[in-house]
Amino acid sequence: MALVPMRLLLDEAAKGNYAVGAYNVNNMEQIQAIMAAAQETRSPVIIQASRGALKYSNFIYLRHLMLAAVEENPDIPIAMHLDHGNSLETCKKAIELGFTSVMIDGSLKEDSKTPTTYEENLDVTLSVIEYARPLGVTVEAELGTLGGIEDGVGSGKVHLTDPDQAEEFVEETKVDALAVAIGTSHGAYKFKSEPKLALDLVREIHQRIPYTALVMHGSSSVPQDLVEKVNRYGGKMPNAMGVPMSAIQSVIPYGVRKVNIDTDGRMAITAAIRKVFVENPEKFDPRQYLEPAREALTQLVAQKMRDLGTAGHAGEIMPKTLDDMIEYYKKYGLL
Ligand code: G3H
Ligand code: 13P
Ligand code: ZN
Repeated sequence: MALVPMRLLLDEAAKGNYAVGAYNVNNMEQIQAIMAAAQETRSPVIIQASRGALKYSNFIYLRHLMLAAVEENPDIPIAMHLDHGNSLETCKKAIELGFTSVMIDGSLKEDSKTPTTYEENLDVTLSVIEYARPLGVTVEAELGTLGGIEDGVGSGKVHLTDPDQAEEFVEETKVDALAVAIGTSHGAYKFKSEPKLALDLVREIHQRIPYTALVMHGSSSVPQDLVEKVNRYGGKMPNAMGVPMSAIQSVIPYGVRKVNIDTDGRMAITAAIRKVFVENPEKFDPRQYLEPAREALTQLVAQKMRDLGTAGHAGEIMPKTLDDMIEYYKKYGLL
């Protein structure tokens, strides 16, 4: 069994100064592709499910698909992570399903739209820590709100994570990982003209909380060859733009240990399926378009694993259970 708490992967990444990709999954082909990439590159991996993904799969299917990945790949350390949990209840449900890690996104209210106050974020994060830590489950929180620097929600730096607050928040909550807002956003349309990110802020935050893993959400690069391929085969993704991999690589030395990627995978799948439909309109067996899609995603993720420095590290990691983590938290005064 190589199902491990996410904290173990983050700690190992800190030791080796690399980042681990956290790839969103919704179905069997995505999970298989990510695991094939992890095998090909010998990488530890975080497979994460959003609330939407869990609902889409009726919870139980995704749980079993993720556990199938663990069973089939005993030599790859895998963390099962809840992406953007919006309440203590959601996190509890994920933990009951067997997730070894949860994110409580207390930066937004339960509607996942309205920003919370710092105190509200602190309260809900503390409630999740209180529940998850005695179980050895990793907790990721978020400070600041995702969004483009130029997109005018509030003004100037209002979205961005404040380093003073980050220090205070980590001191109070002792979270395992903190998602920081530095100008990235979810989806394929992150910037209007050119990428604009507050990369220096990562270094500033890392100086204040050097022992806390930082997380970059909204880290898809939206590769232009994929945009072009989607559009060539009948799609419509005008002006899609993402975060250059070089920007992500530049902040890995400043404590970024988890890099969230969903959109690029969706695009790789969509482009491959569109190509089959246009070039072979007679095909109707789902395997004939899902197989190329799965292969395209495998190649995309394998490249991410090489670019993030995750490749080659799977064999170095001595698996730990949630019980081991409980001991770890006790030893370091975190429980
Ligand atoms: O958080 C954003 C991820 O890309 C998940 O997206 O909520 O559409 O599954 P989703
Ligand atoms: P992208 O939309 O950039 O892939 O980000 C995914 C993400 O942050 C999931 O939490
Ligand atoms: Zn996210």
